[in-house]
Amino acid sequence: MELKLDARISKSALRQPKEIGCYSTDISHNYHNDTRGLKYYYFPESSLEDDTIDLNTGYKDFERDPEDTPRHLNGMLQCLVGIEKKTNSKVKADIITYRGIMTRLMCLPYEQREDINLNIVYFDGQIFIEEDFELKKFNKQHMDDRMARMTYWGYKFETLATLAKPWGQSTRAEIDNRLLQKTNNIEEYCSLVRTGVGSVKLILGAEVDCVFDYKPEKSSDDPLPHYVELKTSKVIRTEKDAANFEKKLLKSWAQSFLLGIKTIIYGFRDEDGIVKAIETFETAKIPFMIKASKHTNRKWNGNEAIAFYAACLDWIKTTVPQKEGVVYRLQYRAGSPKLDLAQLTGFEEKKVLDSMLLPEF
Ligand code: A3P
Ligand code: MG
Ligand code: MG
Repeated sequence: MELKLDARISKSALRQPKEIGCYSTDISHNYHNDTRGLKYYYFPESSLEDDTIDLNTGYKDFERDPEDTPRHLNGMLQCLVGIEKKTNSKVKADIITYRGIMTRLMCLPYEQREDINLNIVYFDGQIFIEEDFELKKFNKQHMDDRMARMTYWGYKFETLATLAKPWGQSTRAEIDNRLLQKTNNIEEYCSLVRTGVGSVKLILGAEVDCVFDYKPEKSSDDPLPHYVELKTSKVIRTEKDAANFEKKLLKSWAQSFLLGIKTIIYGFRDEDGIVKAIETFETAKIPFMIKASKHTNRKWNGNEAIAFYAACLDWIKTTVPQKEGVVYRLQYRAGSPKLDLAQLTGFEEKKVLDSMLLPEF
């Protein structure tokens, strides 16, 4: 498909995300239809000055998800089934998937260094998209030591910057001992939102790092403005650091924008993993920050990213055959100018059905 982008779509055709459900996963990978995994932001700012916030703390005790079995869309589907039983009606959407997958598609015009393998099935009027387990496993297994450590820093920052209960209900020890608390990447709290772009209606499931204050109890109160995305990045000392950070902001912005998360809190750490500063960003302002920036000539543009995302989802919706029991594959190869949609099962070899050209920004 030749791509004609209409940047106006970004303004007119975005549906404001709305939470329709949530769930938690515990350390044993068990699903819970509640908010027990929700965390509360509380950063020990006073420790910043004495350089004691070392994200390496407890690295050898990190409880890493072995990710030895594919979990497909299990968590969000279980949550959806619960909602459908409760309301006695089907949750209607064209595409049901995880937010992380959509983030990758949205960033693709600017970020083409990694392969993407997505599996797609059509069932009962809806398209389900999941990340292919084999490629994901391969990438995790081939992470070098430095990368693995930096990944730990991200999780450690989450442990350090949040409490399992609101501040007022936490003990002094729970507040003070977070640096020594064991870190894992298994427990999580997830939100399910109804959203959409253009004519494509979506249900997205996503992990949410924490709330800034509390999650409203009344279902009529929107919880999304309370959610916060946490991130780590290298302290900005040079022009090059600033340019790299602005490039990285694309992913954080897209990730938060897609779920309707309004606040991103960055922990800036040095090369050794010591947190030096904390900064809060408003998601909606990030594209304007990039526009105004003097650090880089090769800027990303929020409206363009949204326009590509809209075109891509429209293409998926209209191109995936409405055939049940067949697995399709959306495939991108690093550096390639196009995305392919292929039929994965039912043929001896994978058969490419259609391709979409990426725009050049
Ligand atoms: P940073 O965000 O500080 O890099 P998320 O930010 O999405 O909540 O994810 C939390 C942490 O998980 C990240 O911290 C990073 O350490 C790790 N992480 C997330 N996605 C990853 C990926 N694709 N590859 C490696 N690590 C990842
Ligand atoms: Mg997260
Ligand atoms: Mg995060």
